[in-house]
Amino acid sequence: MRALREQIMRIAASDAAVAIVGESGSGKELAARDLHAHSQRGAHPFIAVNCGAIPEALMESEFFGHRRGAFTGAHEERSGFFQAAHNGTLFLDEVAELPPSIQVKLLRALQERSVRKLGGQREEAVDVHIVSATNRDLSEAVRRGEFRQDLYYRLQVIELRIPPLRDRREDIPMLSETILHRLAGARQPSLSADAMAQLGAYDFPGNVRELENILERALAMAPDQTIDAADLQFEPALQQTASAALLGARQGNASDALPLCLPAYLRGVEQSLLMRALRQARFHRAQAAQLLGISLRQLRYRMQRLSIDEYD
Ligand SMILES: Nc1ncnc2c1ncn2[C@@H]1O[C@H](COP(=O)(O)OP(=O)(O)OP(=O)(O)O)[C@@H](O)[C@H]1O
Ligand SMILES: [Mg+2]
Repeated sequence: MRALREQIMRIAASDAAVAIVGESGSGKELAARDLHAHSQRGAHPFIAVNCGAIPEALMESEFFGHRRGAFTGAHEERSGFFQAAHNGTLFLDEVAELPPSIQVKLLRALQERSVRKLGGQREEAVDVHIVSATNRDLSEAVRRGEFRQDLYYRLQVIELRIPPLRDRREDIPMLSETILHRLAGARQPSLSADAMAQLGAYDFPGNVRELENILERALAMAPDQTIDAADLQFEPALQQTASAALLGARQGNASDALPLCLPAYLRGVEQSLLMRALRQARFHRAQAAQLLGISLRQLRYRMQRLSIDEYD
C-alpha cells in the first residue's frame, strides 16, 4: 500500500492521462480520488463518470452538454461532464464500456481540448485531466476491435496497476484496522488473533470492498469490543478452507491444502497485536511496548520490520 501511495504521489505531479487497472473492488476509484486530491487540480472538481451506466442515446449530451431544443425534451441548455470538470479531473470509470460512437467523440475532445454542445455551434475550450479505470483488459478489447487503438493510447499514457488484495496480504491487517476504525468510530473494536489469521488466509475475490463487507457484517455480529473468527462470514466454500487450515494448524496436523504459510500467519498475528497496543496506548510507543511486554527497542524494530508507522 505504501508503494502504491508513493506511486500515486509521483504520478499526481504530472498532467498526463492515467489509466488505472485493477480487479473489481481493489480500490481504483479511491486511487483516482487520491490522485486528484494530490494534484495541482485538487481544489477543482473531480467528476466521476460510470461509462457503463449511461444509456448510449444520452451519452453525447451527458459528456458534452446540449443547447436548448437540441432534442425533444431539451428544455434548457445544459453543460456536460467535460464542462463540469473544467480545470479539474474527469474520471472515466469502466471505460471499456464506452460504445464506439462515443469513443470517436471522446478522442476528438481530448485531441482538440475543446467540446461542442449537442445542437450547438460554438467550440468551448476545456482543460481536464483524464483518469480512466477498467477491470477488463483494455488491450484485449483493442485486439478484438471493440476499443479504438488511438483512444487507448490517449488514455494509457501512464498506467497505474492496483494489485488484488490476495497478492498483498501484508496489507490486510492495516486495511482491516483502518476500515474498522472508519466503520465503528468511537466503539474502537479490535480483531482477535484468530480472526486476523482467517482474514489473512482468505482470497478476497471481491478485494477491499469484500473485506469491508465482511468487517461490517462482523461488527453487527460481534457482541463486544473484540471481533472473533466466529463473527466473520466468508463465502461458505472459502471459509471452510480457511478454518480447516487453521484448525489443522492448531491441532498440529499438517494438511496438504494449507492455504496459509506459517510466516504469513505469525506476521498477521504480530501486526494485529502491535497495532492494538499502539492504538490503546494512543501511539505512545513506550507505553505500547510495556503493554506488549517488550522493550521500546524491540517495538521499534518490529514496527519497522512490519512496516507500521504512526501515519498508518
Ligand atoms: N487502501 C484503502 N484503504 C481503505 N479503504 C479502501 C482502500 N482501497 C479500497 N478501499 C475501499 O474499498 C472499496 C472499494 O474501493 P473502490 O470503489 O475504489 O474500488 P474499485 O476498484 O473502483 O471497484 P469496482 O471495480 O468495483 O468499481 C471502497 O469502499 C474503498 O473505500
Ligand atoms: Mg469503481
